[in-house]
Amino acid sequence: MKRIYNDINLQSRNSFGVVESARELVEFETSSDLRDYFTESKPEHWYVLGGGNNTLFTKRYDGVLLAPVAARRTMLADDGVNVDIRVEAAHDWDALVAWSVSEGLWGIENLSMIPSSVGAAPVQNIGAYGAEVKDVITTVEYFDTNSLDVVRLSNEECGFGYRESIFKHELKGVAIILAVELRLHRNPTPNLGYGDVIKEVEARGGATLENIRESICAIRSSKLPDPKILGNAGSFFKNPIVERSVAERLLAVYPDMPHYAVNGNADVVKLAAGWLIDRAGLKGYRAGKVGVHDRQALVLVNHGGATGGEVIALAEYVCSRVMDKFGVAISPEVNIL
Ligand code: EPU
Repeated sequence: MKRIYNDINLQSRNSFGVVESARELVEFETSSDLRDYFTESKPEHWYVLGGGNNTLFTKRYDGVLLAPVAARRTMLADDGVNVDIRVEAAHDWDALVAWSVSEGLWGIENLSMIPSSVGAAPVQNIGAYGAEVKDVITTVEYFDTNSLDVVRLSNEECGFGYRESIFKHELKGVAIILAVELRLHRNPTPNLGYGDVIKEVEARGGATLENIRESICAIRSSKLPDPKILGNAGSFFKNPIVERSVAERLLAVYPDMPHYAVNGNADVVKLAAGWLIDRAGLKGYRAGKVGVHDRQALVLVNHGGATGGEVIALAEYVCSRVMDKFGVAISPEVNIL
């Protein structure tokens, strides 16, 4: 079943709440819907719009937005320890986390409250509080718009990295994710090493799944704006990865600068974009209808009625201020259309 909308207003379909439109939007349910559509219409410009949580529209989109609507969750296997599930692309990410916690299944509790659809989660390998979705994904199933076939990729084939996957590179403009398969488990494996998580969990009486989820939700709510109230797309920028010599130069001047090791590569260091923006004096900065969030400088917000162009102008200003002060380039994590 597919449904086609023409000249559609996107304000309610992007978490930034910017007022832009698209020439056409197609809601689809199955791979056959997509096969029919690509055979009949041969669209040249298309983009998959999941929950619209990580996309910034900067002008009218003069192509076709493909929006999945299938959201079933199926149990594939349960051997008493590991539980394999298949979840279709339009399933809400946090609803999946809430379900896993209620079922006593470990693996995604630290990813509570990340605004995303399940289909979008592997694209940027969503991550928070020391966990990434790549740690539980076994298979990603997608529709290939060249061959018009359904393809299954193993975890290794997805090319996951920090906010990275094959879907942002080789398969960009080719793959439309249909479903994700995850392996969760019944053995408790609390992952409390990041920031204030352990403190919050202990204050709630210890490391149960429910306490971890509650703690993460409390931490996120205290720092990150609710997109229903203040339009935003979570972290607007990626944390930059710089040469070790750059980090050392900065640490000599700013000994308190947060910096993190990058798995398997001692030549580079990851810095915190939020800290750099904050220290460039921009936390809470406002330019007309857009601004930098006052509790987390990584997040750009729409104070109401902003266009995508205004958000981009602010993003460019933020990048240039960080470059001037620290000599470090930061780049958007959000997809800009
Ligand atoms: N910091 C500041 N000022 C700020 C923001 C951060 O000084 O305004 C400092 C913090 O004190 C901390 C460091 O910068 O020392 C890092 O900040 P934080 O722990 O808040 O995490 P982050 O690096 O800013 C990343 C993810 C978030 C995720 C958190 C928690 C990216 C781009 N962002 O943020 O992801 O929730 O870690 O794990 O990697 C998202 O992708 O939308 C998102 C919110």
